[in-house]
Amino acid sequence: MALARRLLGDPHGPADDHSGGLITAPKRYELMAGAAFLGRRRAAYDRLVGLAGVVTGDRVLDIGCGTGYLTRRAAAAAGAVVGVDPSPNMIAYARRASPPSCAFHVAEGRRVPEEDESFDVAVSSLAVHHIEPGQRAETFAEVFRLLRPGGRLLIADFRPPRGAIGSRFVGVMAGHAMRHNPVEQYAPAIAAAGFTIIDEGDLKPFLHYVRARR
Ligand SMILES: C[S@@+](CC[C@H](N)C(=O)[O-])C[C@H]1O[C@@H](n2cnc3c(N)ncnc32)[C@H](O)[C@@H]1O
Repeated sequence: MALARRLLGDPHGPADDHSGGLITAPKRYELMAGAAFLGRRRAAYDRLVGLAGVVTGDRVLDIGCGTGYLTRRAAAAAGAVVGVDPSPNMIAYARRASPPSCAFHVAEGRRVPEEDESFDVAVSSLAVHHIEPGQRAETFAEVFRLLRPGGRLLIADFRPPRGAIGSRFVGVMAGHAMRHNPVEQYAPAIAAAGFTIIDEGDLKPFLHYVRARR
């Protein structure tokens, strides 16, 4: 079992090598995420908010929000943001750490208890590889339902290292789902849900993003 699953997840929960599953230890997650971004987490997440084109007055959805770090960065630019995550521990932390402009649901990305076409922008960071592969198409379809026509989507996730040493390191530390994260399959899957792809690219230190329009 990878080190991250021991430290962050429920080691007695359903083991699934092909997704990161639920994270249940928010304080440890925050420590590890801060370390992984080498002090540049805020700058990276503000760049994601900028890439998503969030502007004042937008209603934003954050899928797999975890502790709500991106939710709060989006709220600073937008106004109202709703974060969803199936982990009650992560949502409890997010609620404590966030201002009233952020609301949260304990929910999977494929079943968000919100109205059709009720968001201007949807964002997600480091979360799709935590969703079981068989549920990702359903999740993108749910986001399509939730965005208004012309609404914008930004999915950012872990881009596995290409070199053998880096790849082995990620496997030992984080497990199969991160080591073999198929980010190149995201744009086709998002397009299959009905979105028009705008572009995709890499963001330092280890993110790959896809931007799309509903
Ligand atoms: C690595 S964390 C990322 C959290 C946050 N977005 C960030 O950038 O710090 C991945 C999150 O995805 C959540 N997750 C797992 N399965 C999910 C699902 N089916 N739908 C939405 N989120 C899910 C986990 O509970 C975890 O909080």
